[in-house]
This record gives sequence, C-alpha cells and structure tokens, in this order.
Amino acid sequence: MRAITNFLSLVSLLLFSSQEGHASPAEVSKRQSTSQYCNPETQICYLEYSWGPTAPVLRVAIPDSASTGANFQTLLQIVSPSTYGWVGFSWGGGMTLNPLAVVWPNGNGATVSSRWATGRTLPQAYSSATYRTIAAENNGTHWTVETVCSGCSQWNGGRLSTTGVNTFAWAVSESPVSQPSNPSSGFQIHDNIGMFSASLEQGKVPQATFDQYVQGAQ
Ligand code: HEM
Ligand SMILES: *[C@@H]1O[C@H](CO)[C@@H](O)[C@H](O)[C@H]1NC(C)=O
Repeated sequence: MRAITNFLSLVSLLLFSSQEGHASPAEVSKRQSTSQYCNPETQICYLEYSWGPTAPVLRVAIPDSASTGANFQTLLQIVSPSTYGWVGFSWGGGMTLNPLAVVWPNGNGATVSSRWATGRTLPQAYSSATYRTIAAENNGTHWTVETVCSGCSQWNGGRLSTTGVNTFAWAVSESPVSQPSNPSSGFQIHDNIGMFSASLEQGKVPQATFDQYVQGAQ
C-alpha cells in the first residue's frame, strides 16, 4: 500500500509539477483534474479537485435525491497545506454574484465564512447561505475543514445542476486573515485563482447516508 501511494505521488508529481505556480483562469482550466474520492470510514464519496500536489484539495458531495432548482444541503471538504492563509470556493464558477465559502485555520480548528461579492473587492457576509462545520483540524502540515452548507444549491441568478456540468471556482492566499476567529474578518486578495467544471455525479451520496453524516455531527 505504501509503495502504491509513493508511486501515485510520483505520478502526480510528474503530471502536475510543471503546472504549479500562478496562472490566469484560462490557463488554470486546462490543468483541471477531477476524480472521485470515497472515505472508507464514513462511506461518503466526493467529487474531488486539485490543481497540483502542493495545492489544497477541494471535495464536494450532495445527496443523491437532490434535484436541480431545489434547496438541498451541500457538503464541502477542504484539505489545505499550512502554507495557505485562506482558501475560497465558489459554488457558481466565478468571484461575483454567487455564494462563496472562505475558509481559514483558527487554532486547532477552522473558521468558515459565507460571503458574496458584487465586485472584485473584499466579499461581504452572505446570510442566505449558512455553513455548519462537521470537522476541522490543524496538524501543523495541513489544515482540514468539512462543512455543510444550507443555501448553496441555488441563489439569485444561478443554481447547481444535479445532472449536468457545473463550473466551480477557487481562490487561495498565502497571507493569514486578520482575525482568524471572526467569520467577518478581512483578508488580502488571492495569490492564485482558477475554475473547474464537473458533474456532481461522482459526489452523490445516498440521501440516508448523507443525512446521517451531516446530522450525526450536530
Ligand atoms: C480581498 C478579497 C478579494 C479581492 C480584493 C479580490 C479581487 C479580485 C480581482 C481584482 C479579480 C480580477 C483580477 C484577477 O484576475 O486577479 C478577481 C478575480 C477572481 N476572484 Fe477575487 N478577490 C477577493 C476575494 C476572492 C474570494 C474570497 C474568492 C473566492 C471565494 C475570489 C475568487 C475569484 C475568482 C474565481 C476570480 C477569477 C474569476 C472572476 O473574476 O470571477 N476572490 N478577484
Ligand atoms: C496532517 O493532515 C494531513 C491531511 O489530512 C495528512 O495528509 C497528514 O498525513 C497529517 N500529518 C500528520 C503529521 O499527522
């Protein structure tokens, strides 16, 4: 198992190492790589995306009975190297006019901030989407947060498709936020941004399993 893991790390290093660094969204979209990740302990399967071996990993899951245009909960997991001060995820594929999750480490845990941007300046608090943290940890090399969103499946002007392709976006900064324990904290502009498109098929979880997972953590 160890050998396989090392081999896979080597393969991903070879595949992605030349693609590290800053790039425009157009360039970034060329190096997109989505797959499915299933946690054997929780049996939750996610659509997984990352843009390189030293980049954060973004994972999204939804209940399998969710339908386009309805309200349903969405699960977001981010595993980030400690080098990042904050990681942002856009449910609608761009910075403006869609729900944003901005996440950063806070002591041994993490803070999840629901935001919305009308322009390309510091996004403001967005109360139509709320997040509940299911798990968070910070072990010195990585920080991880898993959070469930109510209100991210549709918004004024957009919605997730449960059957078709969605475009998501991300932004990261290596600068820490100014007040880590405050969800309304200010923070500096991103150092890198990008987008990716994928169906949520690989992140569909049986509704009962999904409900048990997100509610069991309450
Ligand atoms: C202080 C906070 C922020 C400032 C001042 C800011 C500013 C900007 C500016 C000026 C651009 C266009 C220029 C460029 O391509 O770099 C941009 C693009 C972008 N930003 Fe931000 N941003 C902030 C926070 C965020 C956050 C929190 C997210 C995601 C959660 C985000 C996601 C994006 C994305 C995906 C793009 C490229 C696509 C697009 O323009 O919609 N930004 N941002
Ligand atoms: C820290 O967490 C990351 C992400 O879960 C994991 O890959 C890594 O092995 C952990 N490191 C230690 C020292 O526990």
